[in-house]
Amino acid sequence: MAGCVQSRRLWQLERVEEDEGGSLGKFVEQLIIPVALRPSSGERLEIAMTETRQVLHRDLGETSVWAYSGGYPGATIEAQRNQPLRVRWSNRLPARHRLHVDHCLHGPHAYPDKREHPRPRTVVHLHGGHVPPESDGYPEATLLPGESSIYEYPNTQNGATLWYHDHALGVTRLNVYMGLAGFYLIRDESEFALNLPRGPFEVPLVIQDRSFAADGSLDYPKSWEEEFFGAAILVNGRVWPYLDVRPRKYRFRILNGSNSRTYTLAFDSGQSFYQIGSDGGFLPEPVGVRQITLTTGERADVIVDFSKRTGELHLVNSAPAPFPGKAGEGVIREVMQFRVRGTWGDDSALPSRLTAVPRLRESAAVKFRQFNLDMVDESPKCTDPGFRWLINGLGWDDITEYPELGSTEVWSFSNLSPDVHPIHLHLVQFQILDRQKLQPDPDRPGFFLPLIMLATRPDPPEPNEAGWKDTFRSMPGEVTRIIAVFANFAGKYPYHCHILEHEDHEMMRQFEVVKPNR
Ligand code: C2O
Ligand code: CU
Ligand code: CU
Repeated sequence: MAGCVQSRRLWQLERVEEDEGGSLGKFVEQLIIPVALRPSSGERLEIAMTETRQVLHRDLGETSVWAYSGGYPGATIEAQRNQPLRVRWSNRLPARHRLHVDHCLHGPHAYPDKREHPRPRTVVHLHGGHVPPESDGYPEATLLPGESSIYEYPNTQNGATLWYHDHALGVTRLNVYMGLAGFYLIRDESEFALNLPRGPFEVPLVIQDRSFAADGSLDYPKSWEEEFFGAAILVNGRVWPYLDVRPRKYRFRILNGSNSRTYTLAFDSGQSFYQIGSDGGFLPEPVGVRQITLTTGERADVIVDFSKRTGELHLVNSAPAPFPGKAGEGVIREVMQFRVRGTWGDDSALPSRLTAVPRLRESAAVKFRQFNLDMVDESPKCTDPGFRWLINGLGWDDITEYPELGSTEVWSFSNLSPDVHPIHLHLVQFQILDRQKLQPDPDRPGFFLPLIMLATRPDPPEPNEAGWKDTFRSMPGEVTRIIAVFANFAGKYPYHCHILEHEDHEMMRQFEVVKPNR
């Protein structure tokens, strides 16, 4: 099996080099900040999904993308904590999908006509949102062109960097690749007292990799592949952009919105920066870092001080693809450029304390569940290469987790495979308890047994992972334990690997929160 994995990867790397995109000029496009929607209390937003043409790089001409509210990436929704928001999501996409839909997967098989370009099915999920099931974007509750649905977001959770994106069963990777993703910030009044950089000095950055065909269109494989790595890096929908900045502090809300690629981000100036927040809100205090690793779906809220700089510096990446892979393999180094210009005063602060993060205690847990993440061999059928990535060997329709409403549970994920799996649970913000090493599998080189190494002790999470999370990196050969409270809403929610190619086939399952029997 492992040999088979290797040969597929070589093929993918060759493909990356051949693709248009890798040779595009760097730092010629200016970073675009997506439009912000700031609904007033009680207002209902109308957001349509449409196809539009946009210049992603001057040498590509116009590229057809899918937009929320007119642009790729979608408009940034800025919600206020404790102010519920309603959104009418409408699918106004054209009658045919732009990309080839692989009917072999679970989901698209529901398309009755099995054409390669059937009608685009979409459904919007608020990633990281504490949302009732009917507004969560259930992967089977899809909209066809001409259809719409009204979702309600309570916004009762902590201020945080959330994002919304498509989640349609078996075609999520295609819909997100076309552009269906945007930021959703929850702002908490108490945040203003922290005096963090804001206004033009607070910038959301979504990092995504894409490949282009010779005519400038987005290029994506015709049939399912286990991972997708693009030839060019886009930030906020522009290929390798630059941003003019002042010599002062900035707040960047960084999202890895890629299909498969992990990034380990640093500045080529070698300067350190501070992480102040993770997926679900602020960390207790700023954590000084020289680099941060973000797997797909993860966010980092950071403060960068450019005050001691002049001239150019770059945000660079060192993460191999696939991750963790071999050092240097599949890496695209450059991400974007910052040009420090002019002079500027700075009265913003880097507070020493940010918020209280009460620790969830294992002693409160009523259930301990165990999950194995592994590649499972199957007999090849249609375009299926003969294996799938699965959670406990089960698929989307096999529900085995029924947490009781309001209860605390500990979930342990053992990654038996050589690749990272970014695991995401809907509904909850959880905490990482610890990580521990697993034993290598003597019969499958590169793979692991679900057995903990003797005489090793659990490692606590890294300081920048010690806050609220909704997505964590499950590293090869490790068991990661997380703890969550399944509160407020009963119903079915997905949990899955956030490598969208894995999620689509079919590293995605669901849990159902149930009311306790009394
Ligand atoms: Cu960001 Cu279930 O997804
Ligand atoms: Cu989610
Ligand atoms: Cu995965």
